[in-house]
Amino acid sequence: MERNNEFLKYVPIFSDLGEDQLDKIARVGVYRSFKKDSVVLFEHEDGAGLFIIAKGKVKVSRYSDDGREVILAVLHESDIFGEMSILDGYSRSATVSATEDSELFLIKRDDFLGLLKNHHDVVISMLQELTRRLRAADMKIKALSMKDAEGKIATVLIQLADEIGKIKHGQVEIEKLPYQHDIANMAGTSRETISRTLHTFAKKGFVELDGSGLRILNYEKFKEAYI
Ligand code: CMP
Repeated sequence: MERNNEFLKYVPIFSDLGEDQLDKIARVGVYRSFKKDSVVLFEHEDGAGLFIIAKGKVKVSRYSDDGREVILAVLHESDIFGEMSILDGYSRSATVSATEDSELFLIKRDDFLGLLKNHHDVVISMLQELTRRLRAADMKIKALSMKDAEGKIATVLIQLADEIGKIKHGQVEIEKLPYQHDIANMAGTSRETISRTLHTFAKKGFVELDGSGLRILNYEKFKEAYI
C-alpha cells in the first residue's frame, strides 16, 4: 500500500531535520498495522526497534503478579515508543497495546542508533522528550502516594489535559476521554470511583462533563487545588 510519509515532519524528535533527512528515515522504516486491542510489544521482550505512531493510539502498561493492569501512559499520533530498551540495552520495560486500529512506523534498532550518532538535534529532542516523560512519571508517583481519590484522579486529568487537551481562554477541552476503566488503571482506583469523583468535580464547579468529553473550566485553579 502507498503510504504518505508526511507525518514524519510532525514527530517532535525530527523537528529540526530537513526534507532529505526525513526522506532517508522514510526509506529505512517499515509500516506495521495493529488492530484495536492487539499487543504491539510485550514487557521483557528484546528491543528490536523504535516505533512512531503514524495513526491511532496506544497504551503503555505494566501488570502486577495478580494480573492487574497499571497504565503508565497513553500515546498518540507523532509520539514515539520503544526507545528505552534500545538506549539501555535491557528488555522492553512495559507492554504496549493498540487502543485504536493503528498504523505504526518501525525503525530498526541499528538505524535509530545511527540516526542519533549523526544528528545532535535528534539527540537533544530525544532528551527533551525523555525529560517530559520523567516529569509526568514524577507527577504520577506523587499522585499515587496521595491517599484520596480526588487527588489521584485530578492528576490523571491534568496529565490528559497536557497530552490531548485543547486550551482556550483558560479552559481545557478534552474531546474524548479514555474509557473510565482505563482512567481507573491510570489513577490506581476503581471504575466506580472514577465515575463518582468526576461527578464530584462537576458539582464543585471544576469540570463540565459532556458525553465522552470533559471540560476543565479554570485549568490554573484546578491545578492549584490538586497538585
Ligand atoms: P521500551 O522499554 O523499549 O518498550 C516499552 C516502551 O514503553 C518504552 O520503551 C517506552 O517507549 C514506553 N514507556 C515506558 N514507560 C513509559 C512511561 N512512563 N511514559 C511513557 N512511555 C513509557
